[in-house]
Amino acid sequence: MTAKPGPHQWRGVIEEYRDRLDIPEGTPAITLREGGTPLVSSEWLSGLTGAQVWLKVEGDNPTGSFKDRGMTAAISVAAFQGAKAVVCASTGNTSASMAAYAVKAGLKPLVLVPEGKIAAGKMAQAIVHGAQVIMVRGNFDDCLRIARGLSENYPVALVNSVNPVRLQGQKTASFEIVDFLGEAPDFHFLPVGNAGNISAYWMGYNEYVASGNATRLPVMRGFQAEGAAPLVTGEPFPNPETKATAIRVGNPASWKLAEAAAGESGGSFTALTDNEILAAQHKLASSDGVFVEPASAAGVAGLLKALEDGESFTGTSIVITVTGHGLKDTATALEGLGDLVDNIVDPDVESAAAAAGLV
Ligand code: F0G
Repeated sequence: MTAKPGPHQWRGVIEEYRDRLDIPEGTPAITLREGGTPLVSSEWLSGLTGAQVWLKVEGDNPTGSFKDRGMTAAISVAAFQGAKAVVCASTGNTSASMAAYAVKAGLKPLVLVPEGKIAAGKMAQAIVHGAQVIMVRGNFDDCLRIARGLSENYPVALVNSVNPVRLQGQKTASFEIVDFLGEAPDFHFLPVGNAGNISAYWMGYNEYVASGNATRLPVMRGFQAEGAAPLVTGEPFPNPETKATAIRVGNPASWKLAEAAAGESGGSFTALTDNEILAAQHKLASSDGVFVEPASAAGVAGLLKALEDGESFTGTSIVITVTGHGLKDTATALEGLGDLVDNIVDPDVESAAAAAGLV
């Protein structure tokens, strides 16, 4: 029996936005129905700022991060062009996403990750989807250099965001935001690592203004971890270090595009301490019910820091992309919390009531 797509089933970002994507005509979509993620109103941050603050919850994508938007595009094109194997360097999310889309397309996934610096959930995803995982004694930047070298010398297609097709898929997040709000927000905040995402958002917003779907552009503000903040200092970090391992990148591939996004929009890059990032992660989970991985909270931490520094956002609209799901890295989320369970009781109502302080 052929499934009939119902009128309300989101088709994935290629079919929803095919006429706006620069991919070869007739490319069949390899999709897990990514995109169409919720824009959740943050009562907590709206209350603090006097702005309307929205969270673009990208952890709701099929493999739990925004990477699926670019990966559906990159894998679809690679498969259409006859690739048999694909390779990527990753801090974890790209590899999880690539592995899933590659096997769906019948391609062999090869993953290069920095040894010991990948959250367990992401590593599990790559392994369970059947990727060949190679751990590199080095950082993400080393992995990307090797991935490029492999793709130049061997029959494997590179699907990192240096592959322009990735940004084509990722720019659909801006389209969704404008389609939902009816206009671009005043500000867009997001974490920045290898800098593909901020570049893709900026491209998407600009294209929507050019086609008349939006009448203005947001101010783009990117946030990095203090120990991996090349876009803030203007210099590569040879030894990037942060607990937000997803953005542990010292020499971003899309450096120039990201600078253009911040520069042209009147935005900026700001560094945050790991403590600021982790505090924002916890506050977001306990206030808004949205559990994101550490790196994904950088935009929220950035807004809190801006408020602390005396900036005013009253009356504006702010979209913050929270890029990946909290379940990918529970170890970091629970670090330092001590005893996780308050009480262990006998199996009866009275004991539970007493332990809960109800009597
Ligand atoms: N947030 C998360 C959860 C990420 O995984 C990444 C990047 C970013 C933000 C930053 O996005 O690189 O486009 O600036 N992760 C890459 C990876 C590096 O390999 O999964 P970016």
